[in-house]
Amino acid sequence: MSDTPTPPDAEANLQWGGRFAAGPSAIMQEINASIGFDRKLWRQDIQGSLAHAAMLAKMGIIAPADERDIATGLAAIAADIEAGRFTFDAALEDIHMNIEARLSERIGEAGKRLHTARSRNDQVATDFRLWVRDAIDGLDAQIADAMRALASRAAEHAADPMPGFTHLQTAQPVTFGHHLLAYVEMLARDRGRLADCRRRLNECPLGAAALAGTSFAIDRDATAAALGFYRPAANSLDAVSDRDFALEFLAAAAISAVHLSRLAEEIVIWCSAPFRFIRLSDAYTTGSSIMPQKRNPDAAELVRAKTGRITGALVGLLTVMKGLPLAYAKDMQEDKEPVFDAAAAWALALAALAGMVRDLAPDTARMRIFAASGFATATDLADWLVRVLALPFRTAHHITGRLVARAEAQGVDLAGLTLADMQAEEPRITAAVFSVLTVDASVASRTSYGGTAPANVARQARRWLEALA
Ligand code: ARG
Repeated sequence: MSDTPTPPDAEANLQWGGRFAAGPSAIMQEINASIGFDRKLWRQDIQGSLAHAAMLAKMGIIAPADERDIATGLAAIAADIEAGRFTFDAALEDIHMNIEARLSERIGEAGKRLHTARSRNDQVATDFRLWVRDAIDGLDAQIADAMRALASRAAEHAADPMPGFTHLQTAQPVTFGHHLLAYVEMLARDRGRLADCRRRLNECPLGAAALAGTSFAIDRDATAAALGFYRPAANSLDAVSDRDFALEFLAAAAISAVHLSRLAEEIVIWCSAPFRFIRLSDAYTTGSSIMPQKRNPDAAELVRAKTGRITGALVGLLTVMKGLPLAYAKDMQEDKEPVFDAAAAWALALAALAGMVRDLAPDTARMRIFAASGFATATDLADWLVRVLALPFRTAHHITGRLVARAEAQGVDLAGLTLADMQAEEPRITAAVFSVLTVDASVASRTSYGGTAPANVARQARRWLEALA
């Protein structure tokens, strides 16, 4: 499978320079041929051709015997490609012509009838939609798996406190389970975006032909149904020139990659020596070639970095499509590589992240200590002043601020202040206030819907695990 060009790289420059020196025809082939990457569409191309041939025979446009030969020939070609016995030829430009030419070699005349009432324009639009649809299904299952990993770790740690941050400054205690479930929500929306994309994508361009439709009496409903599309695309010009489905897919990918990168970044932070909230095993870390103590979270860093190429793919294809006049233009051949690359990067990032979530070992004792530091229960103190002494919240906020300053000056936590210290700022404070200053009391009190109370978190984790079962 390999007499096609591979992309130029620095080392190959000389050799490539030589090839280009061979003249315009070599340069033309190099810029024009897509077989180097669109061979990935071979299954979908054969699937589309089988549906098209069956429809042509059903409508009496080709003979039943021709259709049988086409089906047998395409099956043999599929077997050859699968087995790595197929020679792709850059002179035949793309996957469509490679397969069709091989078919005619194998079965003669009948092979040459396959392209009746279609064009490579509706063919590639169909193949690519089928490919993206398959990719969506695979990625959806992977996102669900990552969600399961997160939800089951969340169930395990529904009651383990950690510091919650805003501005990466200690804010209020939350539970580790609650933090993990935040990502489950994000990933659920990512699945929703994929489902939306799939629904809009699922119309069949086949039969739009080059751009105007065809004079043959084809049955577009039949091919659409055979390929699992909801219906044929209604406008032939739009059918061959629309790449919204690829853009929506990349937009969903970019948003999801941003979610994954945020979690990856938190994993990097949590693994760092000053934090040490979690530990990753050797399975997802590497050592340093010079510093023996190092355990680097490379997988998390790479998940974080994949966002760059995925977002780049979206911007790249938006830029290709911008300003293209109807209908097909060769520019659109540049639609595939960004989608293939982003889909692969997204899939790998999801697999690595799900793996790390299952692998990570939280140091719950240490997280608990930091959950209590940094005056994390100051809001609980202010809330107590509101609830018990009926102070306006803004007043309670000021008093608490002064108590924090007092504690800071003494080098103690809020719970380390004496009742006399408290009463120096607000004489009506009683010893009961100390009961709200512990981390456990703080998280347990956050029972509002969506809040971090362990009972809430356990319920949400269970709900997700049931939904994902
Ligand atoms: N390789 C082409 C692509 O990916 C297939 C469509 C070619 N159509 C054409 N009119 N030259 O876009």
